[in-house]
This record gives sequence, structure tokens and C-alpha cells, in this order.
Amino acid sequence: MLAMLLGAAIPVHVASAASGAVPTADAAQIARGAYLAKAADCAGCHTAAPHAKPAGGALIPGVPFAGGLGMASPFGTIYSSNITPDPQAGIGRYNYDDFARALRDGVAPRGKRLYPAMPYPSFARIDDDDMHALYAYFMHGVTPVATPATPTRLPFPFNQRWALMFWDWAFAPTGPFKADARHDAQWNRGAYLVQSLGHCGACHTPRGPAYEERGYTEASLLYLTGGTNDHWFAPNLSGDEGSGLGRISASDVAAFLKHGHGGGLVTFGSMVQVVEDSTQYLNDADLIAIASYLKNLPPRAPNAHFDPRSSAAQQSAQALATGDVERPGAGIYATYCARCHQSTGAGVPQKYPRLAGNPAVLAPQTVSLVRLLVEGGASPNTVDGPDSRKMPPFADKLNNSEIAHVLTFVRSAWGNAAEPVTAHDVSAVRSAIHK
Ligand code: HEC
Ligand code: HEC
Ligand code: HEC
Repeated sequence: MLAMLLGAAIPVHVASAASGAVPTADAAQIARGAYLAKAADCAGCHTAAPHAKPAGGALIPGVPFAGGLGMASPFGTIYSSNITPDPQAGIGRYNYDDFARALRDGVAPRGKRLYPAMPYPSFARIDDDDMHALYAYFMHGVTPVATPATPTRLPFPFNQRWALMFWDWAFAPTGPFKADARHDAQWNRGAYLVQSLGHCGACHTPRGPAYEERGYTEASLLYLTGGTNDHWFAPNLSGDEGSGLGRISASDVAAFLKHGHGGGLVTFGSMVQVVEDSTQYLNDADLIAIASYLKNLPPRAPNAHFDPRSSAAQQSAQALATGDVERPGAGIYATYCARCHQSTGAGVPQKYPRLAGNPAVLAPQTVSLVRLLVEGGASPNTVDGPDSRKMPPFADKLNNSEIAHVLTFVRSAWGNAAEPVTAHDVSAVRSAIHK
């Protein structure tokens, strides 16, 4: 895929080079731009979802970078732009300054203000070298596509793009990434990738009333402490021992980002696409840098506990053995879940996640857990990770109170200690996702 995209670009340089040889600096810069575009997951947002042919049959995949992916926002659906180098439909007429301004300030040529569904508050931190490499890649490494992307039509007043100026003044951070001399080069590399290209905070940082992220660096107390977008809760990535990464090692975090499996956790929900489109392509040094930055975040927003030696842990083992009526969730778990997740809650390495001590299971917000049980899911498909496995949907097998019971059981078994889930919590999520 990469070779194909790069292949398309090389003739441009062959034609311009007198000797007929590809100027190596350019080819190398384009290749670096392609890597950075993976790190920033430009394709993930700028490629339309696969759609059905009118006549039926196999789904047609979206064309890379041609835009048209609809993104739910509190203001309505926002469609991503065509960012291929086509002069009319895409960004072919952008000069470098136009490109840098769109990415960093959210302002496209002729003053068109972009909605913050494009993560420009994070991309503001991309350094000049990386911005030049990205520009070289988008101009010379991507195949132009002449089809315009679906236009965004929000209702008044949200269709007044000029008004985003006030949002930008109030919320968008200014200025580039600044290295922190108190930390080593690896920490700083990780901080740079997480805060700029990786825009991890777009999902993992809670948002305020105007949809603004509540912080863009570790200096903010709420940075990366967990956020909900599109009915998925992205967990706390700080060092909290309950629902954060406190008990997960740096190498397990790196493996999770590489293959979607690490320390018994398996990627699900909106993180699956992040791993499939973006983090699996990062080199080991960058993955370890990200993991060590995250592992250095002080514990914040504590929630729930895991203590496998507690008396509650013993009781849940017993409830599973006897099908205790006091804990209706135990019986449901034994019938529907234990064959994959095991009666010990330990899961199966490289196949099924452990639920015992799993920080995502201990999260303060249970929207993701309910959504996964209702819809089912599939673990990521990566180039050299384990095979993708399915979690079946339970929408037709379990009613709202059964889903609440089994999740309450899972959140209180094997030493897990998190708040119960109610049938009302389940029905609220189901009506929001119309399932
Ligand atoms: C989280 C989703 C997301 C990611 C990641 C993302 N974009 Fe965007 N981008 C959007 C959306 C949505 C729009 C349209 C915003 C609007 O219409 O106001 C957009 C608009 C743009 C535009 C403006 C085009 C125009 O003239 O309308 C450019 C340029 C752009 N993106 C480039 C990039 C590049 C390069 C990357 C990777 C470095 C990237 N984007 C990553 C969502 C994203
Ligand atoms: C599109 C939204 C989105 C983006 C962007 C995103 N994440 Fe996630 N992430 C999630 C969701 C949802 C989960 C919960 C599901 C799971 O555990 O896989 C998650 C889970 C995780 C976990 C496991 C946490 C746990 O307690 O189980 C890690 C580690 C992680 N993300 C790291 C990152 C990093 C690093 C980035 C940036 C490179 C990132 N994420 C970007 C949505 C996102
Ligand atoms: C056929 C095997 C299978 C069965 C049965 C099953 N699951 Fe899963 N489960 C999975 C797989 C695979 C994943 C990873 C899903 C993904 O990546 O989208 C998963 C993920 C999860 C997660 C998220 C944890 C994480 O780190 O990924 C929870 C919570 C969960 N399952 C609970 C349950 C419950 C409760 C039941 C019973 C009602 C159940 N599962 C039944 C296979 C199964």
C-alpha cells in the first residue's frame, strides 16, 4: 500500500531530476511524511467508510484520503475533506503555508475555519521538520482523487464557520511543542508523539461544555484522564492503579499499541481503528517512547480497585462454582462468557482479554462495556499480530437487566471492585446507539 502510494510519486521526481535519478532527500522526506501520516492517522479520518453498491454484493472500501467520512459531533455530522493533491476536489493548490495553517490553526485557504473534529489543537504542536515531510508526502506521495467529498451541512448557528474564531481564541492552544529539560529524550519523544501527531487526548481527555479538550499537556490535571466520544469511553491513561495504567507495564502498553494485545488487555471499540490504521505502523523506539511517557504520568482521577487477595475475590470464585442466586450475574457469566474469558476471569493470552484487573472493566463510565455487550466487537487485524477474534453481540440474548447483572458481576468478581451497572444505565446507552 505504502509502496503503491510512493510509487505514484516517484515519476514526478524522475521527471524533474536531470540525471534521471530520484533525488534521495526527497524520496526519504516523502517516506518520512508517509510514516508521520500513519502516526497522525490522517487516513483514519479522511477515508470514507465502506459502502454498499446499489445492486448489493461486497462493500466498496472508501478511497484513501478522499474524505467523506461522517463524524458525529454535538452540532451534527461533520464530513472530512478530500486531502489528496487534486487541484479542485482536494488540496492540490495548497502551498506549504496553507497546509501548515490548516493543520496548526484550523484555517483553510480563504479564511475557511475548520471544525475542531479536525484535531488542529493537537497538530499545532507538530514541528517544522515533520510539517515539511507531511506536506511533501501529501503533494507527491498521495494519488490525486477528483471526486469532491460529501459537504458538511450543519444547522444554523453551527454552519457559521466564522464564529469558530471565538472558539479558537478561547480554547485552541498556541505555539509549538516545547521539550521539557527535566525529562530525558525518550520521554520528550513520547510526549511529542502523544500530544501532537497522535492526538491521543482527542479521545482520552474529557471535554468541556463547548466540546473543548480539558487540557493538552500533562500540566493540566484532567489531561488523558478519560473521555467519551461517539458512545465509547477512552480510559484513564494516567498511573491510577484502578482504572488507569498503574498496573500495566510499559512493554505491555507498547505491545497493546503494536498488536492490540498487551498484558492480557485486548483493544476494542474506537481504539481498534487507532491500532489498525495508526499505532501498529510505529517503530519500536516510538512505541516505547509513547509507553514510557504514559507510564510517567502521575496517578490522577482515581477510580475503583483491584485486589485479587480480598475476601470478595474468594466469594466470587465460590459464586461461580455454585451458581449463587444472590449474584444473578454469576450464572449469566458462567453460561455466556466463561468459555472465552474463563471462570477465573483470566482470559486466554493473544485471544481473549482478561476481565480480572482489566482497567477498562473498572472504568468510572460504563458506556463502552454496555456498547460492546450489545453490539459485540472484533479485536484488531494487524500485519503481524494475532488473528482477529470476535466477541458476539448479546442484544438478542440478554435483556437490559441481565446485561446490568453480568457487568455488575464482572466489575466485582476476582478482586475487581467498581460501581455496579444498572438496567437504566444499559437502556440509556441502547437508546443512544439505537440498538
Ligand atoms: C480525528 C479526525 C481527523 C484526523 C486524525 C485528521 N483530520 Fe483533517 N480534517 C478532519 C475533518 C472532520 C475535516 C473537515 C473539517 C471541516 O469541514 O471544518 C478535516 C479537514 C482537513 C483539512 C482542510 C481541507 C479543506 O480545505 O477543507 C486538511 C488540509 C486536513 N484535514 C489535513 C489533515 C492531515 C494532513 C491529517 C494528518 C496529519 C489530518 N487532517 C488528520 C478530520 C481529521
Ligand atoms: C478515536 C478515539 C481514540 C484515540 C484517538 C485514541 N484512543 Fe486509546 N482508546 C480508545 C478507547 C475507546 C479505548 C478503550 C477500549 C480499549 O481498551 O481498547 C482505548 C484504550 C486505550 C488503551 C488501553 C487502556 C486500558 O485501560 O485498557 C491505551 C494504552 C490507549 N488507548 C492508548 C492510546 C494512545 C497512546 C493513543 C494516541 C496514540 C490513543 N490511545 C488514541 C479510544 C481512542
Ligand atoms: C466467543 C468468545 C467470547 C465470548 C463468549 C464473550 N467474549 Fe467478551 N471478548 C471477546 C473478545 C474477542 C474480545 C475483544 C473484543 C474486541 O476487541 O472488540 C472481548 C472483549 C470483552 C471485554 C472488553 C475487555 C478488553 O480488554 O477487551 C469485556 C468487558 C467482555 N468481553 C465481556 C464479556 C462478557 C460479560 C461476556 C458474556 C456476556 C463475553 N464477554 C462473552 C470474546 C468473547
